[in-house]
Amino acid sequence: MFSEDGSGLMPARRLLLIGLVAGFALFVSFAVYVYQGELTTQLWKPALDAALEKVHLRRLSNQNSSSTSEDDSPHPMPFNVTDPLSGYVNVIKDREPLKMHCNVCAMVSSSGQVLNHEAGAEIDKAECVIRMNDAPVTGFEKHVGTRTTIRVASHTSFQFVNKKKADLLVKNKGLTLVAWGPDHSMKTDGKGRIFNGLSKLAKELGDDIDVYMLTPQRMAYADKVFEKETGKPRQSSGSFLSTGWFTMILATEMCDQIKVYGMISDEYCKKYPQDETRYHYYASAGNGHECDLYKRHENGRKNSHRFITEKTVFSRWAAFHNVSFHSPSWH
Ligand SMILES: *[C@@H]1O[C@H](CO)[C@@H](O)[C@H](O)[C@H]1NC(C)=O
Ligand SMILES: *[C@@H]1O[C@H](CO)[C@@H](O)[C@H](O)[C@H]1NC(C)=O
Ligand SMILES: *[C@@H]1O[C@H](CO)[C@@H](O)[C@H](O)[C@H]1NC(C)=O
Repeated sequence: MFSEDGSGLMPARRLLLIGLVAGFALFVSFAVYVYQGELTTQLWKPALDAALEKVHLRRLSNQNSSSTSEDDSPHPMPFNVTDPLSGYVNVIKDREPLKMHCNVCAMVSSSGQVLNHEAGAEIDKAECVIRMNDAPVTGFEKHVGTRTTIRVASHTSFQFVNKKKADLLVKNKGLTLVAWGPDHSMKTDGKGRIFNGLSKLAKELGDDIDVYMLTPQRMAYADKVFEKETGKPRQSSGSFLSTGWFTMILATEMCDQIKVYGMISDEYCKKYPQDETRYHYYASAGNGHECDLYKRHENGRKNSHRFITEKTVFSRWAAFHNVSFHSPSWH
């Protein structure tokens, strides 16, 4: 039996107690809710920040591109997503197309800039060392390193590569030579002058080096990339692509990380108008200055390289691939 003031509680007090208990329970569950919310926020916040920063970086680097600037599609646009290295074929029929992958690539520019630095030892640390055209190693080891894994050569430089083959090719067992040129020079029916030279060389050097060339589809793709990046059709705008263009594309396809040595940024010549660095490190000093040549070509109406524009484009690609610029640094 409940007495009014004994074992039982007054209805008002009972209500108060129920209110207190319910309030406490509510308070506890609210606190747990807030705590968990904070916890999950802490868990995903860094990932979100990183993603936002990435998008921001891409936006930034896309800002001045005349192509569709708001998309986050990769630069350069891939040639073939499932088979990135397709389109580099062996000049000897029935041999396998190019297959190569490197964790770290050192891409060594042919610019006289390399002589201003002694990056040779650092370059040699890279798993793969990429050189261009007939740029030598012998006599320049302190600046450009000693090893060559891949040499990318243009149709115009092929004769020089061939002339210096004892030094550039024969010494480098296991070397990969990749050549590019306009379709008529690469015809495989006996009428392609550069193709003929390449296949003769490949047969002569046997298994010591592998010689590849770009297919016509690859060549057309390189032009398409130029148009997409600059908004100007390559050919009708009077420009030639440089070997650096083809080499940078190849590097983005086969290297996890690309360390570029001796390449100047698009701002360099404006920043250092008195700069007298020579165009090629292996040319004699009287053969012209890199910045003079770059400026002349940038404004040339016909048959001109857009070296400076290409550098602007490379800095955009650096946001999509692991590319860093050394000696001189671009920062
Ligand atoms: C875009 O161009 C403007 C003016 O031409 C320049 O000031 C700015 O730095 C450029 N931005 C990027 C991200 O290249
Ligand atoms: C990409 O390469 C794969 C394998 O070589 C091929 O089957 C496919 O057709 C290629 N795709 C394009 C768009 O060229
Ligand atoms: C670039 O690659 C190096 C070596 O794998 C790595 O340490 C670095 O974090 C990478 N940087 C970016 C921005 O991915």
